Amino acid sequence: MLSERKHDPRAEPTLDTLRTVLRRFGFLYPNTAEGLPGTITIEVTSKPLGMTHGTIAPIGGSKVEVANLGCASCHAGVAYDAQGNPDPARAVPGMPNTSLDLESYTQAIFLAMREHSDGDALLEMADTLFPEMDWRERASLRWLVLPLARGRLEELAGRETALPFPNGLPGATNGVAALKLQTGTALLGGGFQDRGFVSIPDLALRHRRSRLLADGAYSTPSGTTAPSELAAITSFFTVPSMGVSAEKAREYIPQARAIFAWLADYRPPPFPGQLDRAKARRGAGIYATQCAACHGKFEWSGARPKLATFPDWVGDVGTDSLRAQVFDSALAEAVRASSYGDMIRVSIGEGYAAPPLAGLWASAPYLHNSSVPTLAALLYPRQRPRRFAVGGHALDWNAVGLRLADDGGYPDGYVPFSTPQWVDTSKPGLGNKGHEFGSDLSEAERAALIEFLKLL
Ligand code: HEC
Ligand code: HEC
Repeated sequence: MLSERKHDPRAEPTLDTLRTVLRRFGFLYPNTAEGLPGTITIEVTSKPLGMTHGTIAPIGGSKVEVANLGCASCHAGVAYDAQGNPDPARAVPGMPNTSLDLESYTQAIFLAMREHSDGDALLEMADTLFPEMDWRERASLRWLVLPLARGRLEELAGRETALPFPNGLPGATNGVAALKLQTGTALLGGGFQDRGFVSIPDLALRHRRSRLLADGAYSTPSGTTAPSELAAITSFFTVPSMGVSAEKAREYIPQARAIFAWLADYRPPPFPGQLDRAKARRGAGIYATQCAACHGKFEWSGARPKLATFPDWVGDVGTDSLRAQVFDSALAEAVRASSYGDMIRVSIGEGYAAPPLAGLWASAPYLHNSSVPTLAALLYPRQRPRRFAVGGHALDWNAVGLRLADDGGYPDGYVPFSTPQWVDTSKPGLGNKGHEFGSDLSEAERAALIEFLKLL
């Protein structure tokens, strides 16, 4: 808020302005969360969607409200209308937030704290925004929290970023580097080369995998899709994504089980645009011969195709290798030595997992590293742009993926709902090569295949 008002003195010191600022990083303040069972509603007003919060007393008599990213900050996306225009007032839990930009968010907070943590301005702003704060919390902020923050800022003096590693792009995070930091494992090049960005996936059909993560590094001990084993592994995701200790993460296994019970039923909303079902039928045949061996067989008798078998295929398809490399043997050892050693079987160095395909129409950009903006470009590599924008985007129903102009930016007149960033595929970790399946098909066959993929 203080930085915002410095930049724009007319910005009112209100919660509305705060929401405007946070929305730019891709945080959502929806009016509705769609697709949940009728009995579940979630509070969607005061804090960004997915923020968990509670009150702690770090020392006797103190009181501080703390907040942290929760699952839905990353795993709830915006709804789209029949033309592919986003509606950030409607969120869909289970779909990916393809706009959340934790790199820009972390950096903005770091720079703002560096500029405004001395003096009283920060506390005064907290008072203005949250007049309901009581004296105990106010005193805790002044005498406990701010001194800690200033101490940390002093340690970081002379550094350009708060974190030793880059924290991703809109819709992509850097969980491997975060896990290395949490487990004390050495980061590549001291951190700045640890760019194993991974796109946030749609969560549908993930309960059909026995090997999780982009590289399939985490297998269930039994090698099956036993929900209790998948839930145990998923509770470990709170270590890199939320910063909890491995010991504490175990306490969340029951909640992760409940999430997996929901995931077994969750399907992304159906494709909202026009569909040519006859064309999609032809596409289903092409999928069966060209794609199903790795991505699983679908049966299509009802409204939507259903995943019949899933092979859990892992291998090298020529895509950017950095993410697979950064999960190195030192990190594998650290996970094995953690309190999760008996719940996660770690195996590395095989390439990438072929993910179950679900909600593709809304989850662009594609591949583990978000390096390809549309399905048309994925299936026809010559069309893959070197550089394109992502974040706050609209969707395109022809190429299926991001709606882009020829220069890779957004079409004239389009106003993104969050601040976009460039994906520069010449940068380490963001290479857009490989996975050339579909490139020997005719144009008509590719179009039919894409029509089928819209249904998944
Ligand atoms: C900071 C963003 C973020 C948060 C917060 C987050 N996730 Fe994820 N999640 C991701 C990303 C990125 C991936 C893909 C990781 C990969 O494939 O390597 C993922 C993958 C998953 C998967 C699929 C695993 C697979 O490999 O198929 C599940 C299930 C999941 N998350 C559940 C959760 C749950 C439950 C929570 C809350 C406890 C959570 N996530 C919190 C970003 C996040
Ligand atoms: C030999 C196995 C194999 C075949 C055959 C194959 N794929 Fe893939 N596919 C993969 C792997 C592995 C990945 C993950 C690669 C990565 O992210 O680096 C992938 C990723 C994808 C993705 C990106 C998913 C996402 O959420 O970003 C799509 C879409 C896809 N494949 C579609 C297809 C289609 C359509 C075909 C058939 C024309 C096909 N694949 C054939 C192995 C395969």
